[in-house]
Amino acid sequence: MTAHALQDPQALADLIARYDGRAPRYTSYPTAVQFTPQVGEAAYRRWLAELPAHEPVSLYMHVPFCARLCWYCGCNTRAVNRHEPVAAYVGKLLDEIRLLGQALPSRPPANALHFGGGTPNMLSPAELDVLFAALGQVFDLSADIEVATEIDPPALTREWVRAAAAHGLRRASLGVQNLSPEVQAAVDRKGTIEEAARCVGWLREAGVASINLDLMYGLPHQTTANTLATIDAVLSLRPERLALFGYAHVPWMKSHQQLIAEEALPGPAERLDQSERAAERLVAEGYVRIGLDHFALPDDELAVALAEGRLRRNFQGYTTDAARTLIGMGASAIGGFPQGYVQNLTRELDWRAALERGELPVARGVTLTEEDRFRGEIIERLMCDFAVDLRVACARHDRSLADLALILARLEPFRREGLIEAEGGQVRVVGAGRLVIRSICAAIDEYFDAQQGRHAKAL
Ligand SMILES: C[S@@+](CC[C@H](N)C(=O)[O-])C[C@H]1O[C@@H](n2cnc3c(N)ncnc32)[C@H](O)[C@@H]1O
Ligand code: SF4
Repeated sequence: MTAHALQDPQALADLIARYDGRAPRYTSYPTAVQFTPQVGEAAYRRWLAELPAHEPVSLYMHVPFCARLCWYCGCNTRAVNRHEPVAAYVGKLLDEIRLLGQALPSRPPANALHFGGGTPNMLSPAELDVLFAALGQVFDLSADIEVATEIDPPALTREWVRAAAAHGLRRASLGVQNLSPEVQAAVDRKGTIEEAARCVGWLREAGVASINLDLMYGLPHQTTANTLATIDAVLSLRPERLALFGYAHVPWMKSHQQLIAEEALPGPAERLDQSERAAERLVAEGYVRIGLDHFALPDDELAVALAEGRLRRNFQGYTTDAARTLIGMGASAIGGFPQGYVQNLTRELDWRAALERGELPVARGVTLTEEDRFRGEIIERLMCDFAVDLRVACARHDRSLADLALILARLEPFRREGLIEAEGGQVRVVGAGRLVIRSICAAIDEYFDAQQGRHAKAL
């Protein structure tokens, strides 16, 4: 199997048939499926207490509200038509920030703050002020802190952009998905290129230098033609970054996805054609293809980090953030520490109840073993670089040649099929291997068998 697989329908069908399994997206290793309630508040408090003074941390704040619920949405959010629930949530976020302050031994510097959702632009400018003031009590927010946010275009105002920019907003990610009216009707989401252009204009005018647009493939009634038409339209805005996410259809986890007519969903070969043709077009327009689903202009930090081997992968996707600690706030937020991961209670009611009891609202987590760190590093390099030097990974983790051979043995089936090349411990994903990167990583994942069936399709 080689790059020709993309042109050879039979080889392509074979590839899809064999790898149409369900593999994780590896935004962490072990993945969230491995988190257990055994690792809870006590572990979280210990890890916070062990944070070395002056070591910079990154922050994540989850805002689980939207003005409406798009039928395809896989995020932890809910639709609200009044502001009261948002205001009440902000009140509880302030409690969480205070509790974090009590658990931390010092006031750690914070160089990055990411707002995710849901729709963070549902927070009012006054609420942004209050949250930043509270965060500043607990964290030493650096003068050039990189504030990033996800944005739902129809809910954005120019005033909001100005308020966020005053707090250091440097990067914004807007959802566009697909501009075809037929697709939009099938997922109950509207949006025009004019609306996106207006938002991008406000952001650039306020000095937000890095703009990302989220696009999707694999939505109901989506075709390669309407995917490329969407790309042509968004290219007129010349965003610094673009994400192209494959629709993950998991109606057993997200019941509102049952509203989507399954017979209108494109099949594996059509999905692949949409994503690969879209990628070709973006590359032809000068974007660098990054990892599983990102594209960036060559001088964007993400592309520079890729070229320099510094690209990282975390819960927000591909990133240049090198901090060892990520502190998550809000319902369902995930935090990462050198010792392991913790996830807050997902349901807002439970998260709120824990805070009312004066507890840090952790639901579950995982403590990293040495083996996890070793395999996690290999998986992260493969997800970022499509290559890994196993000798470097082994040396960094004090591993023997036998461990190197063990990983190579796991990858051997992919080598035999021409999806990777392996020479002297240097592994490179080649040809159509890029399309099955999640499955390649799953071969190294010690826990993967137990997870079968709980992830969206790898292709
Ligand atoms: C929190 S949302 C982005 C901001 C904003 N809420 C919006 O929709 O414009 C993050 C992104 O996840 C992607 N997404 C949502 N549900 C998905 C799913 N089921 N499968 C794949 N990607 C999905 C969409 O591209 C969406 O823009
Ligand atoms: S895609 Fe964005 S706006 Fe739509 S429901 Fe999900 S988080 Fe909300």
